[in-house]
Amino acid sequence: MSDTEPQTAAGKVLFHFTMSLDGFVAGPDHGMDWMTGTSRPGLIEEYTETTGAVLGGRDGWDAFPDAGAIYGGAWDGPVFVLTHHPEDAAPADRVTFLNCDPAEAVRIALEAAGGKNVEVFSPTIGRRLFELGLVDEIDLHIAPVLLGDGIRLYDSPGGAPINLHRVGGDDPMAVVNVRYRPTKTAAQVNAGN
Ligand SMILES: NC(=O)c1ccc[n+]([C@@H]2O[C@H](COP(=O)([O-])OP(=O)(O)OC[C@H]3O[C@@H](n4cnc5c(N)ncnc54)[C@H](OP(=O)(O)O)[C@@H]3O)[C@@H](O)[C@H]2O)c1
Repeated sequence: MSDTEPQTAAGKVLFHFTMSLDGFVAGPDHGMDWMTGTSRPGLIEEYTETTGAVLGGRDGWDAFPDAGAIYGGAWDGPVFVLTHHPEDAAPADRVTFLNCDPAEAVRIALEAAGGKNVEVFSPTIGRRLFELGLVDEIDLHIAPVLLGDGIRLYDSPGGAPINLHRVGGDDPMAVVNVRYRPTKTAAQVNAGN
């Protein structure tokens, strides 16, 4: 299967995540251990060059309150965190706590991004942005793991489907074919290994 072309800095609003094969971007309690070792060469350089600002939500921030850890510390741009109670957030370098609607937060983040992309690191905010038509691109790295529980990329019970076109490839409507195998054999599972 062909991979995506390198990301470009174009003032886009990206819904950018590493995702489990079953559609989770975080495990229970915002767990992220499952992502270890799944990055590909050049990914950090690609996104540190093209990302102008990050927009996240308060739950993700409270779980990992460290803007310096984004892209392994290689990225040093502005971070915007949406919260209904900014007054009880500890001030942090490069981080602005906003209490506004998601559309306004995107406007502020795009301005700060200076023509580079805004990465939305929140399924909660992303769902609202999809409803408002404010997401330009979904950009995913699918990790070879099934989590079964956690925070879904897109969780909208009762919501209408959002139709997508695949970027790259000949047919934007074509399915993407992938094939995986469990790392444990039935014998290992039965033996408790
Ligand atoms: N896999 C990856 O590549 C990747 C990348 C980035 C992040 N993540 C993970 O993604 C998860 C994000 O979790 P999430 O989407 O469930 O939560 P979240 O967006 O981080 O937090 C949701 C909270 O943000 C606040 N909020 C959201 N919209 C708001 C608005 N319009 N106005 C004011 N406040 C607003 C509310 O908190 P209050 O009411 O309490 O203020 C809301 O409960 C985290 O676990 C993070 O680690 C994964």
